[in-house]
Amino acid sequence: MRILLAGGAGYIGSHTAVELILAGHDVVIVDNYSNSSPEAVERIEEVSGRSVVAYEADVRDHDAVCSIMREYPVDCVVHFAGLKAVGESVRKPVEYYRNNIDTTLTLLECMRERGVHNIVFSSSATVYGEENPYPYVETMPRGRCSNPYGWTKFMMEQILEDAARADAELSVVLLRYFNPIGAHPSGRMGEDPQGIPNNLMPYVAQVAVGRRDHLTIFGNDYPTPDGTCRRDYIHVMDLAAGHVKAVEYTAAHKGTEIFNLGTGTPCSVLEIVRAFEENSGVPVKYEFGPRRDGDLAEFWADADKARDELGWTAARTLSDMCRDSWNWQRQNPKGYES
Ligand code: NAD
Ligand code: WQD
Repeated sequence: MRILLAGGAGYIGSHTAVELILAGHDVVIVDNYSNSSPEAVERIEEVSGRSVVAYEADVRDHDAVCSIMREYPVDCVVHFAGLKAVGESVRKPVEYYRNNIDTTLTLLECMRERGVHNIVFSSSATVYGEENPYPYVETMPRGRCSNPYGWTKFMMEQILEDAARADAELSVVLLRYFNPIGAHPSGRMGEDPQGIPNNLMPYVAQVAVGRRDHLTIFGNDYPTPDGTCRRDYIHVMDLAAGHVKAVEYTAAHKGTEIFNLGTGTPCSVLEIVRAFEENSGVPVKYEFGPRRDGDLAEFWADADKARDELGWTAARTLSDMCRDSWNWQRQNPKGYES
């Protein structure tokens, strides 16, 4: 199959590109590099051993996206192109709604014009909201989100479901990622956040490499085994493998299907710090600080549906995640700039 990767130069998109290529597919990347760099595309080529078609364009640009699809007819679209920083979305809600919703609408319009029927969407566990009990199961209703970023995912899921309801040809797969961490085992590709990292693993890795003085653990008084929050961390290479399955699944199904991509096992912030220290051999200085607004004490995935219907399970361990994150950070202390 030939697959258009909207936002394919980003963290998850770049790892997925490699896995799709190695599974025998062709990819076409469209990215405006607002949160990534063309260097990521070069690394995809290096790691996969294949040259890749990549366009610098805004996925909201209808004419640009349609003309790319005309030049390179595709069988499926994977939609990664979104703004994703929770805190920034609270400060810049209009930019988040504009970017995330418009990219989705433009892709759907261009797909209709070009006769493309299959789309895989990067959704998030955040759509389960604040009230659902865990582990989260796909049959639960979407819940109230605590920030505009989450609401964009909630709304985009609704838009895609409605589109599939109105068009019997359409196949939509909503992938709800839990907490992706880790990097390609080669150390040539990984997460490259701009500025101060919002997420735990890049922060831990930057403390270990000496770019930050210490980690602040947001709260140690949660009702969890060690008092710190628990999440379902998943290796980005497992996530990438899940996309290969999802893309292939769209070719044989119609309508909308939702899949959680998680390990099904929770892990605390302190467990991450200890596992990182063990696997890197480097101490990670930390102190406890107040809780972060909007954080839930814990949640994790019920990943049975992906196992049963996609034939996918997360294979990599917490040690793999920490070792590969460190390998990437150590070799690329300043990310793709290094
Ligand atoms: P990322 O920022 O590394 O990748 C997103 C890519 O989209 C970037 O390369 C960015 O330049 C591009 N982009 C953004 N807006 C664009 C536009 N208008 N036109 C063209 N390109 C545009 O993020 P990621 O971690 O790889 O996440 C990919 C997707 O998965 C996002 O939609 C994100 O919301 C979702 N997601 C991420 C996580 C996570 O923790 N990383 C968890 C759940 C869901
Ligand atoms: C993990 C844990 C923090 C940083 C976010 C989004 C979610 C999804 C994934 C996109 C929490 C703690 C963190 C730090 C810390 N993204 N932490 N010190 O919040 O579970 O999920 O990313 O869809 O929508 O909300 O991930 O990596 O920010 O935090 O103690 O400096 O680490 O409190 O318990 P989160 P995270």
